[in-house]
Amino acid sequence: MNAFHVPRDWREAAGCIERAQRGRILVLGASDRGKSTFCAYLAWYLLRRGHRPAYVDADVGQKDIGPPATISLGYPDLNRSLETLPPAALYFVGAVTPLAHLLPMVVGTRKLAEQAGRPFVIINTSGLVADVGEILKTFQIDALQPDWIVTLERGRELEAIVAAHRHFPLLRLSPSPLAQSKSPEVRRRRRLAAFRHHFRQARPWRIPVSELILQRLPVGEKRPWGEILTPNRLCALADRRQRVLSLALIRNYDADGHRLTLYSPVRENGAVLQLGDLHLTLD
Ligand SMILES: Nc1ncnc2c1ncn2[C@@H]1O[C@H](COP(=O)(O)OP(=O)(O)OP(=O)(O)O)[C@@H](O)[C@H]1O
Ligand SMILES: [Mg+2]
Repeated sequence: MNAFHVPRDWREAAGCIERAQRGRILVLGASDRGKSTFCAYLAWYLLRRGHRPAYVDADVGQKDIGPPATISLGYPDLNRSLETLPPAALYFVGAVTPLAHLLPMVVGTRKLAEQAGRPFVIINTSGLVADVGEILKTFQIDALQPDWIVTLERGRELEAIVAAHRHFPLLRLSPSPLAQSKSPEVRRRRRLAAFRHHFRQARPWRIPVSELILQRLPVGEKRPWGEILTPNRLCALADRRQRVLSLALIRNYDADGHRLTLYSPVRENGAVLQLGDLHLTLD
């Protein structure tokens, strides 16, 4: 934690949150304002004072915990960085941007916040805060009913969201002068590294499609299976209680045998296969 600059208002905000002894803390801010840094600081601050906070990472593009295209739940630990923390639960969004995926974003954040089971739940969010982002944040706030909304703002860039929620306890913070932008290339590389880490022990396996429960198929148009179960399509395997077991990639669809070759770290016959909207190559 010493590597970070901790502005005075960050320290005061952490103190304020800690004094309440519990709370859901929703952290909002545009890209690169320091959301992840503040969340890591708050987790460290609470851990140092003997609390065991949960962390819900709902920034599907630039994850702190777990693979992109998911929302994840983790339990921070003083001995490891968030990036090396194994996710305790995942919710599949199926894309690395919330755009056009508002429903899984809202449902997933709420489900994992409820599952967290700790007095303090820190919730990090995507940097999408304008236009559709404003809609997403409005419904995430409504679904989560946070005890604190923490904003990291340059100027008053979140004014519209703040004005509409000024009856919630708000902690309006400024980004550190040390906050820096990440280039699209750096973001892409970080995502690929996180996906590769998730798939590091993956193996190919074959299964008849009839033995899987397919979810999130395209609606409104009848297309041949071969145009839906396309190579490199990112999916998630879930159990019958809708709990994500791991991500999976479609390697091949064999129309003759109506069989799929999947590539995943977990192998589960009879699982739910949730289709995502992303094609991913790991090499
Ligand atoms: N308080 C700080 N002290 C030192 N560096 C900081 C601080 N705040 C942010 N930074 C740096 O600025 C960059 C952006 O910060 P961070 O990744 O926390 O922002 P973010 O809002 O989570 O971004 P994203 O939109 O990618 O999720 C990082 O390189 C981070 O190390
Ligand atoms: Mg971040």
